[in-house]
Amino acid sequence: MQSKAISLYDDGEHRCLMFTDLVKGDGIQSNQFLILSRKQSAIIDPGGDLTFAALSIEIEKHVPVANLDYIFASHQDPDIISAMGKWMMKTRAKVVCSRLWARFLPHLIPEYLRLQLEMDSESRMMPLPDEGRVIHLQASDIAVLPAHFLHSVGNFQFYDTKSGILFSGDMGASMTEEVGAPVRNFEQHIPLMEGFHRRYMTGNRACRLWAGMVRKLKPKKIVPQHGSHFEGENIEKFLTWIEHLECGLDLLTEQSYRVPDGLR
Ligand SMILES: [Fe+2]
Ligand SMILES: [Fe+2]
Repeated sequence: MQSKAISLYDDGEHRCLMFTDLVKGDGIQSNQFLILSRKQSAIIDPGGDLTFAALSIEIEKHVPVANLDYIFASHQDPDIISAMGKWMMKTRAKVVCSRLWARFLPHLIPEYLRLQLEMDSESRMMPLPDEGRVIHLQASDIAVLPAHFLHSVGNFQFYDTKSGILFSGDMGASMTEEVGAPVRNFEQHIPLMEGFHRRYMTGNRACRLWAGMVRKLKPKKIVPQHGSHFEGENIEKFLTWIEHLECGLDLLTEQSYRVPDGLR
């Protein structure tokens, strides 16, 4: 398989790599991330069976998979963490996720893997409270940021202080052919993300509060888990757009809750 890692940041001792083309077939295009920080390493939102084998091969080109220290999961979705059992099997990494999902995620581990793991999967989980926390890597800090209801009820994003990259999960996601590159024209990009955000984000209040937090952080890049990423003036354009977007609960009416026609 011909795949290339895209370098988002590299100062010699701390690197952030992105993979954009590992999903084949019907699955939605997804980005996976590898952070190499001196002797430590972490993956962000590695996905499920559609990416497990290909991503393992790509990681091995940089670091032995068995050496991974952390698996960061922004939320519980299939494209985020559904191969959790296999990652736990292949590594000794801690799975960092919301405490809201820590007791649900072990349902992803098949019995045959659970037996081979020879340990309680719960001891491999690092469930975080709603406030998140800072995790120290050897050459950077990762701020695990609250991003609840954007879109999952227990949802985190990962801000890498050294690179200034905010790994934003589904926030900012788009359906575009131009993956791996920054958004060029924000106005033309809006239709590629609008439908997704209107339906998958829970409400304007969460968007507004999140945008306020991110503004204080001043990230150099916002890199979502689908599609292309934001940098430069497009960061503020995205924050302004999302804080004015009506979505999720904002759009509900009585029409949204009607028994379908066709009952006999
Ligand atoms: Fe999701
Ligand atoms: Fe996603």
